[in-house]
Amino acid sequence: MSVTDRPGVTGMVCAACGTQVPVEAGALVCPASSPDDRHHVLQFVDTVAPFRPVDDPNPFVAYRAYLAVDAYGAAVGLDDTRRLAVITGLDDAVARVAGTGFRRTPLARADELSAALGFAPSGGIWVKDETRNVAGSHKARHLFTEMVQLLMSEEAGTARWVPSARPRLAIASCGNAAIAASTLARAVDWPIDVFVPPSASDTVLRILESLGATVTVCPRRESDPAGDPCVFRFREAVAGGAVPFGVQGTENAWCRDGGRTIGWEITDELAHRIDRIFVQVGGGAFAACIGASLRSSGVHPMLHAVQAAGCAPLERAWRRAIATGGIDNVGARWDQCMWPWEDEPHSLADGILDDETYDWIGVVDAMAHTGGSPVVAAEAHIVEAHRLALEHTAINVSPTGTAGLAGVLAARDRIADEERVVVVFSGVQR
Ligand SMILES: Cc1ncc(COP(=O)(O)O)c(C=O)c1O
Ligand SMILES: [Zn+2]
Repeated sequence: MSVTDRPGVTGMVCAACGTQVPVEAGALVCPASSPDDRHHVLQFVDTVAPFRPVDDPNPFVAYRAYLAVDAYGAAVGLDDTRRLAVITGLDDAVARVAGTGFRRTPLARADELSAALGFAPSGGIWVKDETRNVAGSHKARHLFTEMVQLLMSEEAGTARWVPSARPRLAIASCGNAAIAASTLARAVDWPIDVFVPPSASDTVLRILESLGATVTVCPRRESDPAGDPCVFRFREAVAGGAVPFGVQGTENAWCRDGGRTIGWEITDELAHRIDRIFVQVGGGAFAACIGASLRSSGVHPMLHAVQAAGCAPLERAWRRAIATGGIDNVGARWDQCMWPWEDEPHSLADGILDDETYDWIGVVDAMAHTGGSPVVAAEAHIVEAHRLALEHTAINVSPTGTAGLAGVLAARDRIADEERVVVVFSGVQR
């Protein structure tokens, strides 16, 4: 099958400047972006195709035809057998490090929680349990396709290095993404640098150390502009030759591929019987992927992006978009809509405190196309959602993982008792 005959991804386009890139280029970032101008983000271009997954417990096998990395592998000359071998080979290697490979995660109506929130028996809260995913959060799904893209480029001989002299991987993160990245790196013995803030927890640091990652603590430097110092040190490493291996679409577009498997699993099981989905937003890749996956599978529940009151640049961007011409085609208005949160971000949900929503365009697009809207959860709702989840479900989830539920609490008086609402419990309590 030629690239253009395939269902799914046929190319990439920058949502900010419109530059088009063929999928076989294997571009990580928009060619027009530079270290001084990161206001670019490549998005995948899909052909409209019926959604027909293969029956397999591994989502990267089940939805392979819709993955951009599979289109990439085909375009650089890897036949079907070799592409499948890269995916299953990496999954096996991950299982040896993490104790489990990638498997569809549980999705079920939370009966006790639904009752506690006053939903009718026909409606309620469905919880997608990503605490059971590789490395305890949804993050490994994003990173899996980044790693597959690197491995396929090596396999096809199109990488800028030879496999025996790999540049280091680099990521800026203080939690789940760092653990997931280090797990995948360890699986293929690829050295990784992790840039963490001084506030990183001892538990996370111990896990990173056990996975063999090299950790650099990044206090703010006097010379740093507004923004996250970990991101600045990460970008310096990338400028020095490291491979960006984080979960921000602005730094590596391939993170926006695998994250979609979460939404495909949800629509595969619930299809049109969902009214709303509440997704917690930090850097925004997670919600952008859920939005994109719902669209490519033809299901359109209202998407609500949830941020904590202590850091809500996306909700500000939404209001700025309305004020500057509307919520459609926001890509060209980056400077007018999105900039780092000025106050020190704070919340119990500390995994969604990115001061800038890097993947904001995809999230705004998804909300615009589904009739959704952003929700800002008061800190009391963040705390209460976590308490309710621990009390009324059997899932050992973190406050960041229940922040989508905090959005349900914040918007509860606008949701009818018969509505079916999905939340993703995205990360384990460590
Ligand atoms: C458990 C958990 N949920 C949600 C998020 C938010 O994802 P994103 O940064 O892609 O918006 C994070 C990010 O760190 C996380 O760790
Ligand atoms: Zn661009």
